[in-house]
Amino acid sequence: MRVFNVLAPLGLGALACASSSSDCRCIYGETCWPNTTQFDQLQGQISQPLLHPLPPASPCYPPSDPSGNCTAVNQGWGDGNWRSSQDGAMQSTNWETFTFKNGTIDACYLNTTITKICEQGSVPVVGVDAREPSDIQAAVNFAVEHNLRLVVKNTGHDYLGRSTARGSFMIWTHNMKNITYNSSFVPEGAPATESYEAITLGAGVQWHEAYDAIQAQGRVMVGGASAGGSVGAAGGWVLGGGHSSLAPSFGLGADNVVEMGVVLSTGEYVVANSYQRPDLFWALRGGGGGTYGVVTHVTYHTYPSFPVAAVFFEANTTNTDVMQTVFTEFTRIHPAISDAGWSGYALISSEAMGFFYIAPNTSVAQANATFDPFFTFAQNLTSQGLIVSNYTVPFDSWYSWYTTLFNTTGQVGGNSQISSRLLPRESFENNYEQLAKTLFALPGGYSWNFVAGGEVSRIDPDSVAVNPAWRDALVEVAYGESWDEGATSGEIDALISQLKQSMAAVSAITPNSGAYYNEASLYEVDFQYTFFGEHYPSLLAIKDKYDPHRLFVVAKGVGSEEWDSELRCRS
Ligand SMILES: *[C@@H]1O[C@H](CO)[C@@H](O)[C@H](O)[C@H]1NC(C)=O
Ligand SMILES: *[C@@H]1O[C@H](CO)[C@@H](O)[C@H](O)[C@H]1NC(C)=O
Ligand SMILES: *[C@@H]1O[C@H](CO)[C@@H](O)[C@H](O)[C@H]1NC(C)=O
Ligand SMILES: *[C@@H]1O[C@H](CO)[C@@H](O)[C@H](O)[C@H]1NC(C)=O
Ligand SMILES: *[C@@H]1O[C@H](CO)[C@@H](O)[C@H](O)[C@H]1NC(C)=O
Ligand SMILES: *[C@@H]1O[C@H](CO)[C@@H](O)[C@H](O)[C@H]1NC(C)=O
Ligand SMILES: *[C@@H]1O[C@H](CO)[C@@H](O)[C@H](O)[C@H]1NC(C)=O
Ligand SMILES: *[C@@H]1O[C@H](CO)[C@@H](O)[C@H](O)[C@H]1NC(C)=O
Ligand SMILES: *[C@@H]1O[C@H](CO)[C@@H](O)[C@H](O)[C@H]1NC(C)=O
Ligand SMILES: *[C@@H]1O[C@H](CO)[C@@H](O)[C@H](O)[C@H]1NC(C)=O
Ligand SMILES: *[C@@H]1O[C@H](CO)[C@@H](O)[C@H](O)[C@H]1NC(C)=O
Ligand SMILES: *[C@@H]1O[C@H](CO)[C@@H](O)[C@H](O)[C@H]1NC(C)=O
Repeated sequence: MRVFNVLAPLGLGALACASSSSDCRCIYGETCWPNTTQFDQLQGQISQPLLHPLPPASPCYPPSDPSGNCTAVNQGWGDGNWRSSQDGAMQSTNWETFTFKNGTIDACYLNTTITKICEQGSVPVVGVDAREPSDIQAAVNFAVEHNLRLVVKNTGHDYLGRSTARGSFMIWTHNMKNITYNSSFVPEGAPATESYEAITLGAGVQWHEAYDAIQAQGRVMVGGASAGGSVGAAGGWVLGGGHSSLAPSFGLGADNVVEMGVVLSTGEYVVANSYQRPDLFWALRGGGGGTYGVVTHVTYHTYPSFPVAAVFFEANTTNTDVMQTVFTEFTRIHPAISDAGWSGYALISSEAMGFFYIAPNTSVAQANATFDPFFTFAQNLTSQGLIVSNYTVPFDSWYSWYTTLFNTTGQVGGNSQISSRLLPRESFENNYEQLAKTLFALPGGYSWNFVAGGEVSRIDPDSVAVNPAWRDALVEVAYGESWDEGATSGEIDALISQLKQSMAAVSAITPNSGAYYNEASLYEVDFQYTFFGEHYPSLLAIKDKYDPHRLFVVAKGVGSEEWDSELRCRS
């Protein structure tokens, strides 16, 4: 049971200084914050009760007499689907906290002995549980009228903390769950002859739900992969680009959109596609989440199902030289295995590596032929202490491969900051030894998303807003730093310094490339070019046109340079 009076000792009084100047957004605790009469008026315009989000560990407080079911909190903590069902939870818990300028961290830790008190941190204080576009329109109009710091949260999967802000007003899209398959979908404004076998997903649909629905039609779609399929299928994933193990076959998520619905800061609910507002449609496909409006639904292309061959490889050793030898060879083969149709994911450190790759319409014999040289290379190092296992397995569909691997929990509920880099094919072809050496030296390992090349490279880089660096890449590598809750801001700053060093090293070896905006760092140098490349000036012009109120502001998003580091006051 939720007990709202835990809000009382949150220390937000410190914020109740003068009311915001017009250059600053109004946040909770300030005299400009709407009063109960005004919230009652909003309540009269929306379909669900207003939300009063609390940090997800709040049921465990006070520790002497928990206000709710703390057992359920402990069970759900590392489960992305549980976290996304909580209005106050983010997937990475550090974004639920707030660090004051003096270094004090305001938090509600799962471990109740650390501070013994549940603080609101950066969790929004009031929210709208959107079910229909009209709920979003009412919320947007209210936020504009009262100059509120607005955040849009779907599942809360985000490495930049874009779906949360201290003292903010939230639009929560999680419960917009409609799914419609249409074998003859005609985009609004298109000639009747232009039809698609398309699926329309409400903003709150998550990948595990989308995959079940499209599998039921005997078809597949380009989507993400994470434990439990809890990432949103029609939110920030696609707005930031959307990588997938199927991207090398069909393009990125953003390349696969037919139409979107979106509520703009003017309160208008509009359709964006190739015929209606094509400039907005272009920007929404890779220009970033929480930047142009609130997307209500996305219509995607779908494809006939096909069998896949899968390879699995694991190796470990205490001899890091041997591991580096394996990784260097692994790096070397990527242009060739990309051309043979492969894609997938790997995790690599100085003592262990594993990958699981797939290729559509590929026989086990073809898979063996492609990977035998690499597997033999690794097996040949067992005499030097490498422990190796490798398997080739046929799956009757992409869905059966996906569900075999991702019907799990985990990956979430921790504290981390990460960065990513798009590794160009050119670096593999001309400089793979140096590339492998630089990556191998990263502390703590890295994830290796082999999700580019193939169709991603064949699509016109200017057809959608996505960072053009994707078109030249084969692999997106992501790495970061993590810490236990209760770490001091000094300890966290030291890890961030390490992260910056790693970023500098990886950028230096891939100087003209960029990074994936959805797996990104707050500390990226020249974020406009790094995340959006040559598309940035156009993206900014489209932002000016469609967000006249500058309502939608997120970390490192298009136009965010106009704001201070808290994204509250114009700088
Ligand atoms: C809320 O503010 C409005 C506008 O200033 C005012 O008319 C109204 O009386 C206030 N209501 C309460 C309960 O303070
Ligand atoms: C608390 O949550 C656990 C785990 O979900 C559940 O088994 C238990 O029945 C819940 N207890 C109460 C009192 O609701
Ligand atoms: C840091 O600043 C916050 C907000 O002003 C305040 O509540 C807190 O007590 C300060 N911490 C220390 C250690 O001074
Ligand atoms: C909780 O925090 C306390 C104090 O920092 C620490 O001693 C204890 O080991 C932590 N418990 C767990 C389960 O992490
Ligand atoms: C979702 O589907 C239901 C039933 O078909 C419909 O009544 C409702 O309007 C739909 N909602 C949205 C947001 O499309
Ligand atoms: C499918 O799309 C067509 C053309 O836009 C439309 O006429 C039809 O009603 C749609 N069917 C469903 C089930 O939504
Ligand atoms: C695993 O699959 C089962 C059966 O399809 C489903 O009910 C469950 O939600 C899935 N769990 C996860 C974590 O994906
Ligand atoms: C390597 O993997 C084997 C089998 O999974 C495991 O028993 C062993 O502890 C691992 N060794 C290292 C160095 O990680
Ligand atoms: C798989 O093979 C079928 C039959 O040849 C073909 O229609 C389909 O396009 C192929 N799919 C992919 C992803 O290669
Ligand atoms: C693929 O390789 C495995 C392992 O060497 C072998 O058992 C299997 O028979 C091969 N399959 C085909 C079709 O070549
Ligand atoms: C691993 O790969 C080697 C070389 O291709 C092969 O001989 C061996 O049978 C494979 N192991 C398994 C279990 O497939
Ligand atoms: C196996 O390793 C030896 C040296 O340890 C090397 O001479 C030989 O070429 C390697 N064989 C293969 C197939 O890589």
